[in-house]
Amino acid sequence: MKDQINKIISDVEKFAITSKEELEAYKLKFLVKKGLVNQLFVDFKNLTNEEKKVIGKDLNILKLKVEQVYLDAQLFLEELKSIDYKSDPLPGYYTEVGSRHPITSIIDEMTLIFERLGFSVSTGPEIEDDWHNFSALNFPDNHPARDMQDTFFVEDDIALRTHTSSVQVRLMEEGTLPIRSIMPGRVYRNEAISARSNCFFHQVEGLYIDKGVSFSDLKQTLYNFVQEFFGQNTRVRFRASYFPFTEPSAEMDIYLGLETESDYRLTKGTGWLEILGCGMVDPNVLENCKIDTSIYSGFAFGLGVDRMAMLKFGVKDLRTFFNSDKRFLEQFSCL
Ligand code: DAH
Repeated sequence: MKDQINKIISDVEKFAITSKEELEAYKLKFLVKKGLVNQLFVDFKNLTNEEKKVIGKDLNILKLKVEQVYLDAQLFLEELKSIDYKSDPLPGYYTEVGSRHPITSIIDEMTLIFERLGFSVSTGPEIEDDWHNFSALNFPDNHPARDMQDTFFVEDDIALRTHTSSVQVRLMEEGTLPIRSIMPGRVYRNEAISARSNCFFHQVEGLYIDKGVSFSDLKQTLYNFVQEFFGQNTRVRFRASYFPFTEPSAEMDIYLGLETESDYRLTKGTGWLEILGCGMVDPNVLENCKIDTSIYSGFAFGLGVDRMAMLKFGVKDLRTFFNSDKRFLEQFSCL
């Protein structure tokens, strides 16, 4: 009988009661007059007095245990019934599901387009040395060109990168040619913070180095990108410009038109908005990175991501992207 008692205890412990039907089945199996527990009490009567002394205590413990499990299950089911599933979250941890930041989704969208054009994705460090951020890119020491970008210095020759062009240098130094890569990332400049400029922002750099790469390849690549990103009928223009690391250099504008007040403001009354700098990689830069300029040439470009995001989403104040206001960010949760 001792074995039977132990068996029932272990069965009872395993019984998972999660519904009224299971509770009823439990009652029928263990607790009714013809149930297993009562049967043991009937058998108990036939034991010798000696045996009764030993088994009696166990049998009472068993009875209490079986009843306790029943009562606990009953209580549990009562509680379950009282939860209002419509307004209460289910028991357990309630976690809010986040979504991609609008700047991230713009970078992802750009990446998809450039991947279709055959570009891979590379990244580099945000804390950069003078060589990768300036010298290798043909910024001479103490040359005013360095003032184009107000730098946050960490130490003498170490700074927060002012542009993603530093990653170009790292890629070229790796020495695996040809290179056809974009380099998205965050950059930093010591600028007054306003609705249109911030002390950090985002760029997508592009670099294509191979035999016989020409300016028309650059124009076609960027033209394709803009058509994919802004729409098939987007008008673009290239203006001659200057960057120390490209020769010739250009800036590319897209035509927004002058239909709304914000078109006027953004384009300073011209209808045209600058979205990127670009050019043929200066031979000095290629040589700094030990690339043979008699064989290879290449183009590079740098796109401003935040401005593109403002344009695409109609956001007027750049700062709203970065002050972590959920009411603003939730608008982009479907992206
Ligand atoms: N690095 C430049 C900037 O931050 C942007 C740029 C211009 C990148 C021309 C390039 C380029 O790769 O070819 O203003």
